[in-house]
Amino acid sequence: MSTVLIEIRRAKPSDAKAVAETHDEAWRAAYQGVIPGLELDKLINRRGPDWWDSAIRKGSRISILAFGDKIAGYANYGRNRARSLFYEGEIYELYLRPEYQGLGFGRRLFTSARRDLGQSGLKSLVVWALSDNDPAVDFYRALGGKAVARSSERFGERTLDKVAFAWNG
Ligand SMILES: CC(C)(COP(=O)(O)OP(=O)(O)OC[C@H]1O[C@@H](n2cnc3c(N)ncnc32)[C@H](O)[C@@H]1OP(=O)(O)O)[C@@H](O)C(=O)NCCC(=O)NCCS
Repeated sequence: MSTVLIEIRRAKPSDAKAVAETHDEAWRAAYQGVIPGLELDKLINRRGPDWWDSAIRKGSRISILAFGDKIAGYANYGRNRARSLFYEGEIYELYLRPEYQGLGFGRRLFTSARRDLGQSGLKSLVVWALSDNDPAVDFYRALGGKAVARSSERFGERTLDKVAFAWNG
């Protein structure tokens, strides 16, 4: 029998390459056929290892879920960016590689990010998801999020609706 250590910890500069790969895999799986192909490539290419290295060194809050020596997923979060919404914190992104989805890891990453935000005084929380991203919408509902706002975002030729889920402090 072998034991695999699962832990959530802050990303280090040496994780940048693996986080970039995780981002690439998770975004392609989640958004192929939703975000136009060329736009999706652009979004992914902008987020290579150098981007992540710089974000980690700047102190952006990026946590990773390590499954043994593999990075299964990541979350980044901080202050809420939408001034029109009265929530303190925001999870900007929460993504798992496809083979690690559906195992409870998303819930663990979410809970850890929420706790970390709360400990720095950001008690209430918002997360945006594309309305067409059914798994994400179902996930945030299952975690008790309430849909509190709608908006849209342009990706090349296509405009997609998005929905904000919120949790009170
Ligand atoms: C969405 C995502 C983060 C969820 O993480 P996960 O590890 O797969 O989800 P979990 O196993 O922790 O599930 C937590 C709860 O959400 C529910 N849930 C998760 N995925 C679901 C789905 N596809 N459909 C319905 N419910 C779902 C589970 O039933 C579970 O509820 P329960 O604990 O009451 O049984 C993950 O699947 C992912 O990275 N998807 C692709 C990227 C993405 O869309 N990210 C969000 C962008 S805003």
